[in-house]
Amino acid sequence: MNVLLFGSGGREHALAWKLRESQLVEELYCAPGNVGIAQVAECIPADLADPRAMLEVAQQVKAPLTLVGPELPLVAGVVDEFERAGLTIIGPPRASAQLEGSKAFAKRFMERHRIPTARFEVAEDFEAAVHALDAFGPQVVIKADGLAAGKGVALAATHEEAVASLDAMMRQKTLGPAGERVVMEERLAGEEISFIILTDGKSVAPLAPSQDHKAAFDGDLGPNTGGMGAYSDDSIISPRLQEQILRTIVGPTLSGLAAEALPYHGFLYFGLMLTAEGPKVLEYNVRLGDPETQPTLMRMRTDLVELLQALAEGRLGGLPVHWSPNPSVCVVLASKGYPGKPDTGKAITGFDVAESLGGVKVFHAGTVFDDGRLLTAGGRVLDVTATAENLPAAIERVYAAAGKIHFEGMHYRRDIGAKGLRRLRPGGSAPSLGTNPRGAHL
Ligand SMILES: Nc1ncnc2c1ncn2[C@@H]1O[C@H](COP(=O)(O)OP(=O)(O)O)[C@@H](O)[C@H]1O
Ligand SMILES: [Mg+2]
Repeated sequence: MNVLLFGSGGREHALAWKLRESQLVEELYCAPGNVGIAQVAECIPADLADPRAMLEVAQQVKAPLTLVGPELPLVAGVVDEFERAGLTIIGPPRASAQLEGSKAFAKRFMERHRIPTARFEVAEDFEAAVHALDAFGPQVVIKADGLAAGKGVALAATHEEAVASLDAMMRQKTLGPAGERVVMEERLAGEEISFIILTDGKSVAPLAPSQDHKAAFDGDLGPNTGGMGAYSDDSIISPRLQEQILRTIVGPTLSGLAAEALPYHGFLYFGLMLTAEGPKVLEYNVRLGDPETQPTLMRMRTDLVELLQALAEGRLGGLPVHWSPNPSVCVVLASKGYPGKPDTGKAITGFDVAESLGGVKVFHAGTVFDDGRLLTAGGRVLDVTATAENLPAAIERVYAAAGKIHFEGMHYRRDIGAKGLRRLRPGGSAPSLGTNPRGAHL
């Protein structure tokens, strides 16, 4: 069978790598793809903001199965477009993708279905927003309603900071239309985890749990980023906690979608805060996380195409998903300047040496090939990912590989997986680090 994948980041490179492993795949296509994906798939140009053009790509390559990596095309309605044409695509239709496309929609949805989440207010204009701040302490979280590529959330420390963020979003419109409406919410304390499921709206296949590292610097300091690394290890979620998440969050979300006649099939990501009162939803994403996908897929033993086919045919419920018991860790190598404007065009050395180490795979996130040389081309450049028989060994391995790679201005966090190590200590559950103390996005 021919398979088509949309996207161009490290997440999609990991997906392409996993899809390529499948015996069921004949031709693998990716649009637009990247340097790493081009080694395992045929890359085709595509505009991911244009569902019609994406449909034309699928028709051109005759792909009976299409998978979408990023959120933008899902929110723009690519699934609706494919379904009208009778083509199978994995992902939610536009109406259901609002769970990610509008934070106000998501919060009101959670309120309607009594899904645990931070207390909130929605405001449509600056004056109303400033007025609504009174309902919160100075430590309020301000979120642009629409898609903002990870730049739409400000964790204010003072009333003045909160007002400045509202002013930037609502009056200066620094995020464009995405910031015209805002959600303000209570600041939650606790440890953050990523819980991702594959679902057809009825059955649920949870993926192995993972934990992202949002802040730019070690110890969860500095500005928030798209993600500086992630690891996947069964110890992140105890069976009891998983049961609680399924019962109090996943179940009510799926029954809420069904009750509102919002069809859903595809990946659904729950960004969770483990608070003293139990797990609460920070946000939904209607797709896989980047970089959580990289270490998670490294542990997946089930054929991904078989799984997606079962999903498309409504057979997900009967299919066991197998995972390697071995943990995996992904470290993002970032450019100087990231998460601000990155320096690009720097020569990358040591890639092959890093990849030749056993148990290591290096995914491309922002690179180009130029005249036979591999150059940096974005903020997040490479995602070094490694697996080993236990977490300390996986961490050692991933940093040994990262140490082989070099480009001017390269920076990366040295503490990816450290929360997992603390959990492994006798009597150790990971301490509540709280959220990033200085992590305003704006
Ligand atoms: N209510 C909250 N309390 C504390 N931290 C929060 C809260 N909401 C969001 N955050 C922090 O901000 C980050 C980004 O928020 P999120 O809702 O995931 O938006 P996005 O991923 O679209 O930027 C989260 O990963 C979390 O670290
Ligand atoms: Mg998020």
